[in-house]
Amino acid sequence: MNFKGRDLLTLRDFTPEEIGRLLDKAAEVKKDPAAYRKALDGKTLAMIFEKPSLRTRVTFETGMTQLHGHAIYISPADAGLGKRESVPDVARNLERWVNGIMARVFAHQVVEDLAAHAGVPVINGLSDDFHPVQALADFQTIREAAGRYEGVKLAYVGDGNNVTHSLLLAASRTGVSISVATPPGYEPRKDIVSEAVKTGRRTGCTVDVSNDLARAVRGAHFVYTDVWASMGQESEAQQRKAIFAPFQVNAKLMAMAGTDPWFLHCLPAHRGEEVTDEVADSPKSLIFQQAENRLHAQKAVMVLLMGD
Ligand code: CP
Ligand code: NVA
Repeated sequence: MNFKGRDLLTLRDFTPEEIGRLLDKAAEVKKDPAAYRKALDGKTLAMIFEKPSLRTRVTFETGMTQLHGHAIYISPADAGLGKRESVPDVARNLERWVNGIMARVFAHQVVEDLAAHAGVPVINGLSDDFHPVQALADFQTIREAAGRYEGVKLAYVGDGNNVTHSLLLAASRTGVSISVATPPGYEPRKDIVSEAVKTGRRTGCTVDVSNDLARAVRGAHFVYTDVWASMGQESEAQQRKAIFAPFQVNAKLMAMAGTDPWFLHCLPAHRGEEVTDEVADSPKSLIFQQAENRLHAQKAVMVLLMGD
């Protein structure tokens, strides 16, 4: 299994075995951080942001520091992707100086274009279509809480967005059954669902997408939600509030699972909208463990992709 020099743009590009290796590495890095103290000695990661961030910026930057490397934050204004400078030219400049590029973008094609024109690994730190490093941290958290992947059911409730897509791909690769419920018209992309169904047949899990909340949540060990309007959809936020209101994760919805499930959220949360304080702050909430695991999972990714 070879990760060196590869890009991480979407989990679709990785086999179940490779995702398993990435997740095992994330657990190793978390357990024994000292063993990786010099893993990226003298290496630099450029971090390009077209959108705001707390977790992604701080965990990639802290991760590089802990691996004895260095990270450079490039703000939306400085990146000016496709405006100040073309995406291929940005990639051709950066590859001359740094050992890896992390990018948070609007159009997914931008990370594809960066990867096509940079000879160093490109890591997707969220695009409109995918959030792969989030899903890795989430599945690290799921295994820590449940102790396994086999026989585990994850329910995702709300908008079929970038986070949903990466969860579908991660679930099908780890063998976790996933059930998604969205309002009509907000389902995840069909090609991604089909891919997850196909991979799930091989790993022994089911993939279910519907508009039926009760069906999604019933028997779930984990209930996951995300904001109703993602970054870039601010103008739709008001309209979406009415449409998504029945999909709020509150105590009543959690009780519908019948399993006292854990609660997951990638954050930032809009408390009082997609989730109540009662659920987000309950003892079953793993939201800050997920946030912590962003650090460990991404250190694992960087060690495997950018290490010697
Ligand atoms: N979950 C996540 O990616 O958080 P940020 O948007 O703060 O980076
Ligand atoms: N779906 C959200 C995730 C934020 C981490 C967004 O894209 O804004």
